[in-house]
Amino acid sequence: MCGIVGYIGEGSACDVLIDGLSRLEYRGYDSAGIAVRNSDGVIKVVRAKGRLKALEDKIASSGGVEGTSGIGHTRWATHGEPSEYNAHPHTSYGGTVTGVHNGIIENYLELREKLTRHGFSFRSDTDTETAIDLVEYYLMKYRGGPADAIAKAMVRIRGSYALALMFSDEPDRIWVARKDSPIIIGTADGESYIASDVPAILKYTRDVYYIGNLEIACIEAGKAVFYNIDGELIEKEPVHITWDADSAEKGGFEHFMIKEIHEESRVVNDTLNSVIKGENGKYIDLSAAGISDSYIKNISRITIAACGSAYHVGINLQYVMEDLARIPVRVEFASEFRYRKPVLDSDELFIVISQSGETADSLAALREAKKQGVNTLGIVNVVGSSIAREADSVFYTLAGPEIAVATTKAYAAQLAAGYVLSIQFAKVRGTINEDEYVRLISELQTIPEKIQSILRNKDRIQYFAAKYSNAHDVFFIGRGIDYAMALEGSLKMKEVSYIHSEAYAAAELKHGTISLIEDGTLVIGILTQPGLFEKTLSNLVECKSRGAFLMAIAPESREDISAYVDLVELIPDIDSHFTGSLDVVPMQLLGYYLGVARGFDVDKPRNLAKSVTVE
Ligand code: G6P
Repeated sequence: MCGIVGYIGEGSACDVLIDGLSRLEYRGYDSAGIAVRNSDGVIKVVRAKGRLKALEDKIASSGGVEGTSGIGHTRWATHGEPSEYNAHPHTSYGGTVTGVHNGIIENYLELREKLTRHGFSFRSDTDTETAIDLVEYYLMKYRGGPADAIAKAMVRIRGSYALALMFSDEPDRIWVARKDSPIIIGTADGESYIASDVPAILKYTRDVYYIGNLEIACIEAGKAVFYNIDGELIEKEPVHITWDADSAEKGGFEHFMIKEIHEESRVVNDTLNSVIKGENGKYIDLSAAGISDSYIKNISRITIAACGSAYHVGINLQYVMEDLARIPVRVEFASEFRYRKPVLDSDELFIVISQSGETADSLAALREAKKQGVNTLGIVNVVGSSIAREADSVFYTLAGPEIAVATTKAYAAQLAAGYVLSIQFAKVRGTINEDEYVRLISELQTIPEKIQSILRNKDRIQYFAAKYSNAHDVFFIGRGIDYAMALEGSLKMKEVSYIHSEAYAAAELKHGTISLIEDGTLVIGILTQPGLFEKTLSNLVECKSRGAFLMAIAPESREDISAYVDLVELIPDIDSHFTGSLDVVPMQLLGYYLGVARGFDVDKPRNLAKSVTVE
């Protein structure tokens, strides 16, 4: 949700800001803007509605923007329509503070009233403006300088924010404040950078400071100083980023999404290898995630909370964990969990799954679980993210930076992490024996190569997508794990191709929705679970009798299904607990190729943002 970049140094701020914003556009792209201070101390603001390209054109036609310090923003609208008038940066009523914001100021109406009483009037419909005006208000009232004014504003603001602020009287500094919205600072020789996410500045520096909740930073060229909300200095060590900037580039692929699908084999392999140890006699070692055998033995039940695709991983793991480890598992939308006064058991394990580690609802659900005193575990991709820092233990998925808004490789890595947990829980709790343990680990290790073999045949899906790109309604059906996969397949299709689709537990279709099946409606059945194969097949045939065009995703050993359906996508055989890792690939490809065939921007689908840091 919204991307922030900042720069202060000796180079062209405009160039760094535009470059950084181009790497953050996945966070929002309704409008963009920059504010740059020139050598006379004058701050020039340029903003434009739409994609970054519109801003670049506007900067070029305004004669360019000169200066060596500035802030930039790419917006995902919350308060106020996407327009130039609502685009960031915003300048305070009195002109002393210019800022950009990510998050939501929940009490902005109350703050507007307060500020109105003190003579302020407003220039946009945003909540952001109230935060910036409030800082100006305290600056003028107490004359205690930026740190004091920001801290006072932070006490009054309710909600979430990452703020980057320039003060008219402080030419050599940019100030940052944070609560529940991500922002990091990078330093190099004589230059400093601010960004919502590491890839935006990785080209310039690998030394990054993570700013904690309710902390303030003062950034000068080449250095950063940190304060808590009481104005006390905080010592921080930079974290050296070791992953490669190339992994945030397209690397010859047309889109990030297809590149990231092709990385699934590697990220699953890396995630598995981070915990599977032993040359002869493989075993799983979860000590790096802080999970011991006694911890596992003590678990009475598990709650998984997550959003979007991560929630679908949770649904899948519910089937796998319950079956293998015989622990009761329930899965909830994080947004529902946080507000329904959940009843947790004292020996319950609470798992939150999140690629970004910053999803507002997932973070709030984690905090609710912690408040109730239960053990919490994050399955997280972004190192140093809020969920990673706040969960009692963390299992890092090693997917690397994921840029396409619709998740693919991070989903694959989350699933792999969940399988490993399930197998280890089963072993420690004695629900599987040693032979089965070793067999399941070996099966897991076949996933990367099997993903590659599916990708080698991707042209079939591309061909089918070209033929079916005019579809209006698509239904995905499956039972058990296949139902969990239907949810994800359907979401991928909606997200990137904008074709309406729905996922149903196969037997549920006949309880109403089958009335929507008509001549030519595409129904995609997932049939990977041996005990449920015939049953889902019957449900598919029921659709065919009503005119549906049938596609099936099934294991190679069930090639016989081609006699009943119009099109088959075969996936390699694997233990039935792990089929999700394989059958998700053709469904991701289908969503991708349909999106491309329909001419959409698959990496940045309309109305979506990658990191949803508002509730
Ligand atoms: C957004 C993304 C989804 C993602 C969801 C949860 O909606 O577009 O792809 O699954 O957020 O994100 P998280 O970072 O918590 O996994």
